[in-house]
Amino acid sequence: MSRDWSRLREELDRGRMWDILMQFPEDLERAWREAEELELEWEEPSKVLVAGMGGSAIGGDLAKEYAYDRARIPVEVVRDFEPPLYADRSTLAFVVSYSGKTEETLSTLSRLLDAGCAIVAVTSGGILGEVAAKKGLPVLEVPAGRPPRTALPYLYLPILVILSKLGVLEFDRGELEEAISMAREARRELFEGGETSRVAEELAERALGKIPLIYSYRPYYSVAYRFKTQINENAKQHAFCAEIPEMCHNEIVGWERGGSKYFPVFLRGREEDPRVRARVEYLVEVLEERGVGYGVVEARGEGRLSNQLSLLYAADVASYYLALLNGVDPTPIELISRMKKRVGGPHW
Ligand code: F6R
Repeated sequence: MSRDWSRLREELDRGRMWDILMQFPEDLERAWREAEELELEWEEPSKVLVAGMGGSAIGGDLAKEYAYDRARIPVEVVRDFEPPLYADRSTLAFVVSYSGKTEETLSTLSRLLDAGCAIVAVTSGGILGEVAAKKGLPVLEVPAGRPPRTALPYLYLPILVILSKLGVLEFDRGELEEAISMAREARRELFEGGETSRVAEELAERALGKIPLIYSYRPYYSVAYRFKTQINENAKQHAFCAEIPEMCHNEIVGWERGGSKYFPVFLRGREEDPRVRARVEYLVEVLEERGVGYGVVEARGEGRLSNQLSLLYAADVASYYLALLNGVDPTPIELISRMKKRVGGPHW
């Protein structure tokens, strides 16, 4: 079915999320440049924590997967009021809150300060910005005035750049150049109705009225989770994700009796271990035997970063289109805003 996407955009996208999606390549470039400019005199840490919630935490998930087999120390994400007990003076902690006002993140910040961790604040201001200024913490400033989830380049790339500066992982900046040119190409295709539009529109059309189940594996599972949360927040729709190989030991059995109300989607990239590939092929067989339609999104490029970010860009745009098909403005997240008012935080 051919849709008049520009009319739907005009009608529904009152928060103008499309404009932000269209500046993804420039955001990647700027986030990279600003992260390179930050001077840190610290020693190599013994572990890394990324504390944040929602759209501010996802950069931590991407970094954790990126670092899994490239860093010799643990990189963990903390979505909680408290950091783990092992946070100590040799821990590097990124405290990420776009608004700088998120209760969970500020509570964790206070414990990280008590534990004497080395802290980098990533924020557009708020209480986190104030505390960082008072305590003299290095700050990576994120441009203000947009939904946190659209600031992903500023919430992910600095973590990779800083970890590489501190010797935690080797990160070839050529990967960044590739990811940026891939993003430019994808954007051009969105303007010209090329491959990226086709993939994103098709995903949205097929997810309409269904529950997307997004399947992927390291180092792209974080993107599956991002896709789930973008469908939740942008399209105001349920979606779930599961990781291969683990889901082959439980969730897969859910397909025994078919499942026409679901729309399974595989996110696949260049780094696909043959053991993972065998499992993806088996899953595809299971779905085909039951006549369940599924989608596949293929990553682009050579490098890990380009693969992660090309999948993520397609997923972000697909969730945006799905919002339009659902007849909603992608930007507002009423139930999250009300929750924040209702629970009363943050207390500092
Ligand atoms: C909004 C969004 C949310 C927020 C989360 C935490 O776009 O994605 O998930 O990111 O509520 O708020 P911040 O990011 O301000 O710490």
